[in-house]
Amino acid sequence: MTTSPTTPPPQIITGKARLAGVMGWPVEHSRSPALHNYWLRRYGVDGAYVPLPTAPEDFVAAVLGLQAAGFKGVNVTIPHKEAAYKLADVLDASARRAGAVNTLVFREDGKILGLSTDGSGFVASLEASSLPPRPQTRALLLGAGGAARSVAAALQDRGIKVAITNRTQERAVTLAAALPGTDVLAWSEWEQQLGEFALLVNTTSLGMAGGPDPLFCPSLAQAAEDLVVADIVYAPLVTPLLAAATRQGLRTVGGLGMLLHQARFGFKEWFGVDPQVDAATQDHVLNSL
Ligand code: ATR
Repeated sequence: MTTSPTTPPPQIITGKARLAGVMGWPVEHSRSPALHNYWLRRYGVDGAYVPLPTAPEDFVAAVLGLQAAGFKGVNVTIPHKEAAYKLADVLDASARRAGAVNTLVFREDGKILGLSTDGSGFVASLEASSLPPRPQTRALLLGAGGAARSVAAALQDRGIKVAITNRTQERAVTLAAALPGTDVLAWSEWEQQLGEFALLVNTTSLGMAGGPDPLFCPSLAQAAEDLVVADIVYAPLVTPLLAAATRQGLRTVGGLGMLLHQARFGFKEWFGVDPQVDAATQDHVLNSL
């Protein structure tokens, strides 16, 4: 019997199964279990990936317990990304630059490795859309939270000149100090300066269904013709910002790709397969929403 990627075979979980999961508080909203278990079935890996609701005060004990119980590692999401950064014995360069960790790998030598895969996932998503940012061009990021820092660091690592703007300017200044070479623009003025940029990225929750301003749609009137507009919000898939950019003839990249691509790094570390992000993967995750 042949099996298409959209109807993967049943999951294999033997006594030797590799185990991983996602720690968050809350964690019910996470798409990661649907995504990783889809890949486990698709690639015939003996393993499982489970939600691990963990209160902040229990985080360290829970990580050490999972490691002791033979887990291969975990994803960590809100509010544990900084605690995971502090707990890791070894940090890769992306985690050090991001100041946060979203993926922990329990190594054979007993050490806990911390990675930050959000920024690399974002860049991989642009590349998958055939819109890789070109070195020496300028990117403008809206927002100054953890997502902004990961994306800014990953873009800088690829030779892009990053500027950020944020409602609370102080946070933008703090972020810029952590990533030397980052410019700061005033929140009230960035729309007028948009023409200087090749890439605009919304890293805030603006435009998200149920978020602070689901209708967020700044003016793109000053955009250069070849501006690429990206959003890390994926619910809705097409945010008002992306819809406006498309109406203006600009190319866009939605947030779902970043979610899928950032997951590849952990999957490969824990389960030994570099999984493909394709239309079938996307459909599966969308159907699980
Ligand atoms: P994350 O770590 O996921 O990026 P965060 O640290 O809470 O999350 O950051 C959320 C971002 O959305 C911030 O840049 C925030 O701006 P402030 O630093 O001024 O709070 C931005 N944001 C949230 N609601 C906003 C709103 N109504 N208007 C403008 N920016 C908003």
